[in-house]
Amino acid sequence: MNIQWNDRRTRQFITNVGLITSDGPFGPDVMAAEWTHHISYSPSLIAVNVRGHDATAHNIIESKEFGINLAGEEQNVVCSICGRYSGRDVDKVAVLKGMDVKFYNGSKIKAPMVSGCAMNAECKLQRYEEIGDHIMFVGEVVEISADENVKPLVYHNGKYWMLREIIEKPSPDVLTKIEKLAEQFKK
Ligand SMILES: Cc1cc2nc3c(=O)[nH]c(=O)nc-3n(C[C@H](O)[C@H](O)[C@H](O)COP(=O)(O)O)c2cc1C
Repeated sequence: MNIQWNDRRTRQFITNVGLITSDGPFGPDVMAAEWTHHISYSPSLIAVNVRGHDATAHNIIESKEFGINLAGEEQNVVCSICGRYSGRDVDKVAVLKGMDVKFYNGSKIKAPMVSGCAMNAECKLQRYEEIGDHIMFVGEVVEISADENVKPLVYHNGKYWMLREIIEKPSPDVLTKIEKLAEQFKK
């Protein structure tokens, strides 16, 4: 089946917002991508799904590298700017600098990295494949850092959210009950 963009049922997903930086035929660029996921530990791989006509896709295919900058709670406006314009038409890095957003030079890739994020990962393109109406770019992480003082921005139902309180994992009593059941239903 096909599901339209913004269908109320798919709005139940909760994601990060990745600020994907790249530098290629369209120059330095940064887009917002909720479809940003860590998919392997060894090697460490991060996948991002991008529409084929976006400047980011062309930049990554040419340069074979990209940056993943996970937006923090205070970067909602940054995300909206990155998602509103295309690097085909607007120099978003310059716009963001005009909004006092800071960038730094990555040590392993040419694309600029966004300062003040929850996590920054520099990636070398490992593979890419057209899947449905997006291209999945899989990047191998070659440099990574995180700032635990910055809480990641949450994206859900087309809106930005903050993480709220922690919900406890199962108590020892509940765990004992679960383990008994798992023992009983062992295959
Ligand atoms: C919060 C948010 C999340 C987004 N997630 C994605 C995504 O996962 N994949 C995608 O292709 N576009 C996504 N977009 C839209 C792109 O950011 C938008 O098309 C952007 O203009 C592409 O920029 P570019 O042409 O400079 O690459 C998102 C936009 C916003 C605001």
